[in-house]
Amino acid sequence: MQIEFQPGDYRETACDLLAFPVFEDEIADFSSLESLDKITRGAVRSVIFSREFKPELHQTCGIFKPAGLKARNLLLVGGGKKSHLNPAILREIAGTAVRNAKSRAYKSVALFCRGAASPGMAARVATEGALYANHESDIYKTRDKEQRDIESFRIILDRKASQTEVREEIRRGVIVGDATNMARTLANEPSNILTPAKFAERASMMGTHVGLDVQILEREEMERLGMNALLAVSRGSDEPPKLIVLRIKGQEKRRAGSPLYAVVGKGVTFDSGGISLKPSEKMEEMKGDMAGGAAVLGTMIALAQMSPRNSVIGLIPAVENLPSGKATKPGDVVKSYLGKTVEIINTDAEGRLILADALAYARTLGATHIIDIATLTGACVIALGNVNAGMLGTDQKIMDRLRKNCSITGEKLWQLPLDDEYRKAIRSEIADIKNVGNRTAGVITAAKFLQEFVEDTPWIHLDIGAVDLEREGRPFACKGATGFGVRTLVQLLGQ
Ligand code: BES
Ligand code: ZN
Ligand code: ZN
Repeated sequence: MQIEFQPGDYRETACDLLAFPVFEDEIADFSSLESLDKITRGAVRSVIFSREFKPELHQTCGIFKPAGLKARNLLLVGGGKKSHLNPAILREIAGTAVRNAKSRAYKSVALFCRGAASPGMAARVATEGALYANHESDIYKTRDKEQRDIESFRIILDRKASQTEVREEIRRGVIVGDATNMARTLANEPSNILTPAKFAERASMMGTHVGLDVQILEREEMERLGMNALLAVSRGSDEPPKLIVLRIKGQEKRRAGSPLYAVVGKGVTFDSGGISLKPSEKMEEMKGDMAGGAAVLGTMIALAQMSPRNSVIGLIPAVENLPSGKATKPGDVVKSYLGKTVEIINTDAEGRLILADALAYARTLGATHIIDIATLTGACVIALGNVNAGMLGTDQKIMDRLRKNCSITGEKLWQLPLDDEYRKAIRSEIADIKNVGNRTAGVITAAKFLQEFVEDTPWIHLDIGAVDLEREGRPFACKGATGFGVRTLVQLLGQ
């Protein structure tokens, strides 16, 4: 998709579909729509006051061959309350326009970015939203494939802006949009295609292409290092485990004392539960249990193209969790890379086991701040549904920043507590710690387990158990993986 921008006048924009955001408050106070209404000879007034169109968020109304415009179709896109408009909502408006255009097999879309805070930010999020919406998840269809890609997306800014700034923000938007779609594609891949080895191979190929240094730790190396928590998960599978380590070239020489951020993503390419086998209903969704790892890869690929001041490394422990004669069994005890012993009560709580070793290893690599992202618990699905991801951790300053960024990224995070009292649920009789708590506070006890392996390094854990997958499809997105986390992590670290 070609992304272009133009200042000012939307009347002259020749395109298949011109999207024009309309806000709920504009029913009572029509003045800001007067000029569009005049140009279109009353068409706007007519659809709004006949209640043909309500400008609630994501509602749309198309006006075919509008008078006074060069566009073939004028699409009024509901933006909700004007006072609620933020970059996240503008991104969704852009996406809604693109998917609406796709459904009519249009090829060129323009969006008039009304009322956005800054032209640069508007251009960036509109770009991200357009790319996100243009993406489809039907990779393996040989017929009835969604082939209706939008070819060009034009951003019309409602005020004067620096051309260089807008161009740079669009460039960033393309980087983030593409990286997010890449993460979605990976998470949608079935587990017979995306094994840990294939995940590592793709990380190498794509990473090297953008200037990442990609290192793959093989099983023998992990055995030598004593990463037995990670290895315990992959034991039941014939697919060898891989620990993917991503570094940004040029960041090797850090100033002494400057922070090194590690982003660590759960990369379980299929989670059957292992010997603690999951019920078969919806088990197919566990092909996406590497969504956290995909988000880390997407983040690193994006950052590599942005030359940020922040030093960042990425780690993805990639394994498959299956039952077999070799598999780890409930009650087994392993010694982790950090040296702490773990009693594995439930082999389905495997994410925390592979993360335990990856988190501890991130510290060996010099990480001063760690952020992990994982489809870690079903409990998070119950607690927060598919609206918010769970956020827990020990670095309140970063968590506050992450929460503030939600209105930009559109990826919502809700902080949960991490009191010491929750630790006792994962005490083991036989080992230092066990890998599950009791029935209560599952999101928190999982985080408490991880905390044991970051020790005193400032750390944040994002549980994306419910937000990694879009089951219904949205006006601005197809069904399937969401790529959750790429925008959040790039917004935080891409400076
Ligand atoms: N990958 C799952 C968590 C999950 C389940 C994510 C459903 C998204 C949707 C994780 O490995 C898991 O199975 N967790 C168990 C932990 C339990 C055994 C303590 C869970 O949440 O049931
Ligand atoms: Zn599991
Ligand atoms: Zn899992």
